[in-house]
Amino acid sequence: MTVRVWTLSTVTTAATVAGYADLLTAAERHRAEELTDPVVRAEFVCTRAALRSVLGAEMAVPPESLRFEAGRHGKPGLVGSERQFNVSHSAGLAVIAVTDDARPVGVDVQQQRSAAGLARLAERYYAPTEARWVSAAGPAELEHRFGQLWARKEACVKVTGGRLIPGLAWTISADGAETFRCADPEISGRDLAVAAGYHAAVALAGQQPFAVEQASWPAVLAARESTPSRSAGSPTPLSTGDTMAVLG
Ligand SMILES: CC(C)(COP(=O)(O)OP(=O)(O)OC[C@H]1O[C@@H](n2cnc3c(N)ncnc32)[C@H](O)[C@@H]1OP(=O)(O)O)[C@@H](O)C(=O)NCCC(=O)NCCS
Repeated sequence: MTVRVWTLSTVTTAATVAGYADLLTAAERHRAEELTDPVVRAEFVCTRAALRSVLGAEMAVPPESLRFEAGRHGKPGLVGSERQFNVSHSAGLAVIAVTDDARPVGVDVQQQRSAAGLARLAERYYAPTEARWVSAAGPAELEHRFGQLWARKEACVKVTGGRLIPGLAWTISADGAETFRCADPEISGRDLAVAAGYHAAVALAGQQPFAVEQASWPAVLAARESTPSRSAGSPTPLSTGDTMAVLG
């Protein structure tokens, strides 16, 4: 079982964002127009365009033909396909995770926060043993422990398509330097190395081990810079085989 994870920057020019918007449906473009913060708008447009491109390549269908529907708490899924995916964006960085079967997946990326107030947040939202473990560290390690746990917990929540706040109380146990488990609900996960100053994790329903293949999405970004509209050509999908690093 393999999860493929793409990382992309969402910090780009307004022209590039406009080009990516051509790949979206009318409803997605409408949602983007309602996002008044240009940084947030770019995150949504770039990530959704990348998601369409990645899934289109994986499923050998035109990216614009894919239809998504949202679950009870907003988790998008594919209409007419059991293939699972999830996305996350934070402070100019986005990650996209796609599985090759029907096992639900969640992914999260978080920019690391500075230590002030984190111990109190952990006390409020994390399981008591985890909050004590976070608070026991000096500032740099505290930032790391808090951020790593947050990304792990949020990835687990996103597996279930649930809500963040209740999920932050789930206990996450480390079962290796970079792997972790949640017992209830049963979820297994793995930390992702994405960029300095960020924490990221991917998680899957169930306890069976899985491998992760990681790639960045520069080929597509470069293609969009030179072909800003769909009429000028679709983005070049990253071949899933060539630049991926196998982590698992
Ligand atoms: C899902 C949730 C944990 C994501 O939080 P976040 O840090 O803001 O967002 P991320 O960037 O990590 O992920 C957002 C992406 O996850 C997906 N997503 C949305 N809701 C989801 C859910 N409930 N489960 C899994 N994935 C979800 C979407 O693809 C979304 O990206 P898009 O809007 O560009 O398509 C949070 O929004 C949540 O708890 N939602 C449930 C509804 C709710 O209770 N909202 C109040 C916030 S506590």
